[in-house]
Amino acid sequence: MSRDSFSNRFGVVAAAAGSAIGLGNIWRFPYLCGENGGGAFLLAYLFCIILIGLPIMLAEFSIGRSAQRNAYRSFKVLSPQRPWYLIGVMGIIASFTIMSFYSAVGGWTIEYVIRSVTNTLAGDHNEMFNTFIAGTYTPIAYQFGFLALSLGVVIFGVSKGIEKSTKILMPALFVLLIILCIRSLTLEGAKEGLIFVLKPDFSNLSGNSILDALGQAFFSLSIGMGCMITYGSYIKRKEDLTYTANVIVLASIVVAVLASIVIFPAASALNIEVDAAGPGLVFKTLPGMFALMPGGIIFATLFFILLCIAALTSAISLIEVVVTFCVEEMQIKRGIATALVAVSMFLLGILCSLSLGMMPQLGLFGLGFFDLMDFMSANIFLPLGGFFIAIYMGWALKKRITVKELTSDGSIKFSLLRVFFFLIRYIVPVAILIVFISGFLRL
Ligand code: TRP
Repeated sequence: MSRDSFSNRFGVVAAAAGSAIGLGNIWRFPYLCGENGGGAFLLAYLFCIILIGLPIMLAEFSIGRSAQRNAYRSFKVLSPQRPWYLIGVMGIIASFTIMSFYSAVGGWTIEYVIRSVTNTLAGDHNEMFNTFIAGTYTPIAYQFGFLALSLGVVIFGVSKGIEKSTKILMPALFVLLIILCIRSLTLEGAKEGLIFVLKPDFSNLSGNSILDALGQAFFSLSIGMGCMITYGSYIKRKEDLTYTANVIVLASIVVAVLASIVIFPAASALNIEVDAAGPGLVFKTLPGMFALMPGGIIFATLFFILLCIAALTSAISLIEVVVTFCVEEMQIKRGIATALVAVSMFLLGILCSLSLGMMPQLGLFGLGFFDLMDFMSANIFLPLGGFFIAIYMGWALKKRITVKELTSDGSIKFSLLRVFFFLIRYIVPVAILIVFISGFLRL
């Protein structure tokens, strides 16, 4: 079967960056950082993303490009008669759990786009967000809208849909974040927030926080569940995988840091308790800042539209993993597969929205359903997937195959090959295990 492939270098980088950059950087990172004490969490996240995330992203790209298949089939092709394909299976489960809450938050961004456009963003923003979420039906309707939008893009196929939108919108988001940073930093009382996020206070960092940082590193790079294996299979042979991965990691870090420099100073200026705000942090903080900007409505509209689109380009990558699986492994037609996948994600997603709305008792282990899906996806499934991907690449896959991919068949020099193998064989798996254990023991 012929597979779509991205048309040029920028196409691949844009698509993979579009997957990586999303709500994870702008919504999830700041709220976790707020809950976990600020600067020390940022450092832990940087540590995890560079030492653990980057090698795993390279591993995923190599596996996908070498096998030229979806996440599940790649393992079957490279290592027939071995159970490694279970990594792909776990990835499919993770797609569903992630999308269940991701689509809920995606829906929130649509609500806030509409509020910005209709100029109904004024008032007590804490109250506004809580009332909206507790309304249950409205958030579910928006969640449906968000999934319908993602569905539309996925149906048009890989290179066309994803590539086109990302190229213009990512740079736009970046520029807007810089403008918002400037406004936020010039607010009265901004300094405290800036210190909070830039000055590490390690007494705030528990084993649990480090697990959160690790999970966030995986989440924000879209790794640990085969998404980047699927994208890797679309990357042309001559492309430099290391370059691509470096750009994505850097972009992801920059966006998360910029988002924090917008949110924390604004929060301190507006007297918002960042450790108690939870998943609503961005939605409670930014409207207050927009109100203090000349042309605030325009900035608010632009921001929420771009956030929504960034969320869409990530959501499509998650849906794509499952759709590709259905099309290539189960011979289901693309359109039908996409619809089926979106409907099942919606059903699971309704439970997430319900747990924040009229059914707070919905959940397990003392976590509401929304938090449970969030926690299981980022803190369990992804690191576990990453652990096995590292073990697979380091110990099971022939070294020759990896070297071939990382050097694009010998045409590119990859001087850090030894470092890479050392990381992927020893450091990555051991670090994941340690963080896992200390997180569960809540050290
Ligand atoms: N990385 C995206 C974000 O930060 C979310 C995402 C897309 C993702 N695809 C993924 C997370 C695959 C984990 C795995 O918003």
